[in-house]
Amino acid sequence: MTKIIFSFVFSLIVLFVLGQELNNKAKLETNRFGIYDSDLLPASFHKKNRERLRALMPNNSVAIFFSNPVRNRSNDVDFQYHQDPNFYYLTGLREPHSILVIFKSPTNVNGEETKEVLFVQSKDESKEIWTGKRLGKVGAELLLEIETALDNKMFNTTDFNFKQFSHIYHLPIAQDIKDNAFDKSDLHNLTLQFDAKLSEAKENVVDKSKLFEWMGKLREVKSAEELILMRKAISITCDAQIELIKALEPEMTEFQSEAIIEYIFKSNGAEYPGFPSILGSGENSCVLHYNTNRNTMSGDNLLVSDVGAEYHGYTADVTRTLPVNGKFSKEQKIIYDIVLKAQKAGIRKCKKGNSFWDPNIAATSVVSQELQKLGIIESPIGVRKYFMHGTSHYLGLDVHDVGTYLPLKANSVITVEPGIYIPEGSPCDKKWWNIGVRIEDDVLITNDKPEVLSDCIPKSTEDIEKLMQETSFFNQKN
Ligand code: GLY
Ligand code: MN
Repeated sequence: MTKIIFSFVFSLIVLFVLGQELNNKAKLETNRFGIYDSDLLPASFHKKNRERLRALMPNNSVAIFFSNPVRNRSNDVDFQYHQDPNFYYLTGLREPHSILVIFKSPTNVNGEETKEVLFVQSKDESKEIWTGKRLGKVGAELLLEIETALDNKMFNTTDFNFKQFSHIYHLPIAQDIKDNAFDKSDLHNLTLQFDAKLSEAKENVVDKSKLFEWMGKLREVKSAEELILMRKAISITCDAQIELIKALEPEMTEFQSEAIIEYIFKSNGAEYPGFPSILGSGENSCVLHYNTNRNTMSGDNLLVSDVGAEYHGYTADVTRTLPVNGKFSKEQKIIYDIVLKAQKAGIRKCKKGNSFWDPNIAATSVVSQELQKLGIIESPIGVRKYFMHGTSHYLGLDVHDVGTYLPLKANSVITVEPGIYIPEGSPCDKKWWNIGVRIEDDVLITNDKPEVLSDCIPKSTEDIEKLMQETSFFNQKN
């Protein structure tokens, strides 16, 4: 018996050591290509997405996708690169100047049958010393499991014989692609080469709209792997909002509150904010997408904090509205409680099979009735003056993610975010002026009850006021 136990434990140790060694080897391999994260989506996820797209395509068709352009900030400085979400969903590649070609069925490309070709930037030491390691053809085939990867310099000479297809799908090509005069295979040239190739195909086979519909259909429902990353992005955002609630104090600037939020994002590994962080206090709480964040707050202000961490491509989007001095005034609390009641009514409608618009209808009806009771509006039609946006959007690789807008499906994620915004000068009692309130959560549609993924952040006025009394590590003095 002791022998059996001994050999069992011994095998476990050997397996563990072997496993560690394999892990280390895999890590060395990915480090070689400049990839340091170990929890990225697996190549199998992107491969499955290409297969799912292929299944939607008709016989004898081809779909072409372009990576995002490198966007210029000014002179020789570019914005930090961000991949196009469709391109990322289908490849996992985060590099620019690339083209993905997906065939419905194996097609002859340069003498070999293949179902897909990814054209990527070549390995080039003189360029990589400036902008970092590239995958190149070898890395793309090895790590992304693309059937055929080619150097993007080969795109021009590769003959796809576009005449042979009865359908050619691509999305509209970006209008802001910068021409790098020193690079013959930058995206600018690649798109010109593509146009030239396409001119040989018959005009009526080219479709620039169908891919929108298909990508929306595919991306709307999240896989288990995607939901892990979405939960992570949302949990980082929860930590950030909670820290801000604790740290907020009168006389803080909007940019200091932004700094607290984005410090927590970055220190937890989020690559970027998923959209420019909105930290609007006082009159700016009534500006829906305010993001200059330059004002100094004052005690009687509300602060709308609408932020979302992006983790490995997936973004959160959560809003809380906070009283800067730690206590909601009577009027602020009245408006806040209406928005909260509307949000709860909206969340109750987040059920599989319900119309996408049901949460919006439920929330709007609450806001409309309550604003009429307060005399702020006279009739239901007036509600759009103070609640001028929809309640929900899909969430995923884009903050306003793509989807079908058909009845809600299990494993899709939507936001529920009603608001009331009463800017100074509005035709109502002055006591309501400069009150802007939005409450937003990220909701997972399930086969059963909705799951509020961002419910880790308090949202009743009592709970917010209580949390504001706690000390944040940002304002501990010693
Ligand atoms: N969080 C910004 C928006 O949903 O528009
Ligand atoms: Mn939103």
